[in-house]
Amino acid sequence: MKKPNLISLKEIEKLKIREIENYYSNHYNPGLTKIFRILGFDKVRIVKAEGMYYIDEHRNRILDCWGGYGSLNVGHNHPRILEVIKEFQKDKRVEINMAFYSDYAAALAKNLSEITPGDLNYSVLCNSGAEAVEGALKIAEKYQGKERNKFIYFDNSFHGKTRAALSVTSHKFIKKDFKCLDGCFEIPYGDVNRLENFFKSRKADIGAVIVEPIQGNGGIVVAPDGFLKSVREICTKYNALMIVDEVASGFGRTGRMFAFEYENIIPDIITVAKSLGGGKVPVAAYICSEKVFRKAYGGSDDTALFSTTFGGMGGTCAVAVETLHIIYDEGLIERAADIGEYFIVRLKDLKDKYPDIIKDVRGRGLMIGVEFQDISGIITPGLRPLVKGFDKKLKGAFAGLVVSELLSKYKILAALTSENRNVIRILPPLIITREQADYVTDSLNRIFSKGLAGLIKNKIIGFL
Ligand SMILES: Cc1ncc(COP(=O)(O)O)c(C=O)c1O
Repeated sequence: MKKPNLISLKEIEKLKIREIENYYSNHYNPGLTKIFRILGFDKVRIVKAEGMYYIDEHRNRILDCWGGYGSLNVGHNHPRILEVIKEFQKDKRVEINMAFYSDYAAALAKNLSEITPGDLNYSVLCNSGAEAVEGALKIAEKYQGKERNKFIYFDNSFHGKTRAALSVTSHKFIKKDFKCLDGCFEIPYGDVNRLENFFKSRKADIGAVIVEPIQGNGGIVVAPDGFLKSVREICTKYNALMIVDEVASGFGRTGRMFAFEYENIIPDIITVAKSLGGGKVPVAAYICSEKVFRKAYGGSDDTALFSTTFGGMGGTCAVAVETLHIIYDEGLIERAADIGEYFIVRLKDLKDKYPDIIKDVRGRGLMIGVEFQDISGIITPGLRPLVKGFDKKLKGAFAGLVVSELLSKYKILAALTSENRNVIRILPPLIITREQADYVTDSLNRIFSKGLAGLIKNKIIGFL
């Protein structure tokens, strides 16, 4: 068979940025190219990454405060992770092992039970956050039975983009074109009374409540004090399972191993992903209480109900095992708490200095959100007729401007959110130093010192 015109690995290294963009436009993700152009991300060709930094083709170092949306708690290309991968490959260790016991999958599951409280002893290993959420909802349904297979989720929530995960996600923007599962009910985040009243109004058909301890994609909204505890109590009272989604907040990011630990509760199921893979491999899990797992999936017939081909691959599990060790060995949980607190204080100082620009600074540990004022009212009326839906589109334009300026002028990468577009998210690797946090706040200070008008001038149209 004649080989088609395939790009080789050697050729990839030599691709020019416009060629890559062309492949995006024609074969991969055309919509993203437009966004990249607006933000100026289309000008940067990343060739490497290490620790806190992306490195571009001109050897510029870009401080990563995006952190792969929480996937890089141990930083880029941690030497211990690279070593594990090298050793694993060198020794020809087993990757796909469904016929025999897999030592690495077994050890990872055991370790996950060690780092979680109570009887969260059983892990199902899979590949992504959405898959973990799908699995969590399914095991809840199997455990509860068909009479009790409805779910409660919260407004402003995000749990992934596969169908069941999307059904318990509130974000209208990503949901609107798809048919979601029936029997998923939305309650305001933080509203304990509404939750309890909703339970009272139903005929015991709610199987589980799914909740983020901090809403990440919703713009870094921390659950009000006592909320998770109340959800726990209500779930117990009405025999519903409590699923806590730690996909974004887990593995030390918030200053605890898991963010739910701030409230001393034990969920029935937690979902984890992102940083479990050490920034190198896709690995995820839903971790279930012994009671739930044994009843739902404990039998030999049941194993066929939840397995997935690549769940528990040898190399990914080895990386995950090492990642957990690194988090403890380097004191990353304490570090996230310490530097996060410092970072938030400094950002709050900026808010006090620029109240017309910054509306709110919030977060826990190194899961930080900066919300900007809605600037639609400030923009010159002359621009309004130019763009349909001007005001709506402008909401968030300022966050885009800030992210763009941070990258182009200061070589700092920060994240936007798809739902609350007026927020930038700061989710750096947990290895960030105080000096690097200072550099970010000082750079923001410089950007804001130009004032709104200075920043917006000439640029705003691009963001609409
Ligand atoms: C809280 C939460 N749950 C689930 C997901 C979905 O994870 P993934 O993108 O790995 O499917 C995300 C992703 O950002 C998330 O933040």
